[in-house]
Amino acid sequence: MRALVTGGAGFIGSHLVEALLARGWRVRVLDNLATGRKANLKRVERRAELRIGDVRSERATLTAARGCAVVFHLAAMGSVPRSVAEPQYAHDVNATGTLNVLNAAREAGVGRVVLASTSAIYGDVAALPKREDLKPQPLSPYAVSKLAGEHYAKVYADLYGVDTVCLRYFNVYGPRQDPLSEYAAVVPRFFSAAIGGRRAVIYGDGGQTRDFTFVLDCVEGTIRAGTVGTLLRGVVLNIAGGRRTDLNRLHAIIRGLCGSRHEARHAPPRAGDIRHSLASIARAGRILGFRPHYGLADGLRETYPWYAARNGA
Ligand SMILES: NC(=O)c1ccc[n+]([C@@H]2O[C@H](COP(=O)([O-])OP(=O)(O)OC[C@H]3O[C@@H](n4cnc5c(N)ncnc54)[C@H](O)[C@@H]3O)[C@@H](O)[C@H]2O)c1
Repeated sequence: MRALVTGGAGFIGSHLVEALLARGWRVRVLDNLATGRKANLKRVERRAELRIGDVRSERATLTAARGCAVVFHLAAMGSVPRSVAEPQYAHDVNATGTLNVLNAAREAGVGRVVLASTSAIYGDVAALPKREDLKPQPLSPYAVSKLAGEHYAKVYADLYGVDTVCLRYFNVYGPRQDPLSEYAAVVPRFFSAAIGGRRAVIYGDGGQTRDFTFVLDCVEGTIRAGTVGTLLRGVVLNIAGGRRTDLNRLHAIIRGLCGSRHEARHAPPRAGDIRHSLASIARAGRILGFRPHYGLADGLRETYPWYAARNGA
């Protein structure tokens, strides 16, 4: 069986490609290398078929989807702050790109499309844990563009019989998550500061919480969503670690792993950021049999060597 992984040269996508190959899939990647890197696929470069192309192109998505049983659609502009700065770009890649992928899947007769969605869709709703039936409250163009993709996925399942499933990932971390981009996520920023002998910046008081998800747990949930035998019909599922941790605690664990003596520096909160995040993963447990295996300390321990090697520590 062949799978298409859009965004397969990215952080999560490259782990997904490796895991699919290890399970005997043939894998094609469609990626324009906007934030992904060929180096992320180095371990599988002879086995994965890499097509450099853009999900904003109808032709590129259609030719990539042909002959695939499952499409894992991870290609995206994935940064909240960048979407605040460039909303049109976020819309073009995330909303229009997803529409192109769904059209391509429909035309190519793909069996299932798995969409990478996001916990950002919940916005700042007070209810915790966040269950999939809460009313979405997107606070950023990024969240709006991802929510549009979810709605398209449901409508394509209902109207055109393309079986789809949307996975709301919660703060995924692990090896290969880019620490250098000006939009880097919190785990890479903390690792790179601690290893580089600098003070990390925490926006706000550090009391904000996140549900951190180790990348291999995220990949396991994603493959289950692509392969489970029942029709999924556009269902939305949280994929997360299922526990929350505040940023001060996260920073303390990472400092401990890296042996850093530098305290964090606090800066003003960022526009579009939410205060608390914790997933209910009961629905993914029921429908996919998904259970995370990595606690935060375990996942960070698995992650540390990659940052240490990059920084020559
Ligand atoms: N990392 C997280 O914590 C997290 C949380 C929620 C959702 N997600 C979603 O998971 C997916 C993967 O995220 P990631 O963290 O691996 O980010 P990433 O930036 O490493 O991966 C995105 C990939 O998509 C590619 N891409 C971007 N624009 C493209 C385009 N127009 N055409 C083709 N390829 C394009 C990039 O080059 C990159 O390889 C994204 O859809 C993201 O929104 C990630």
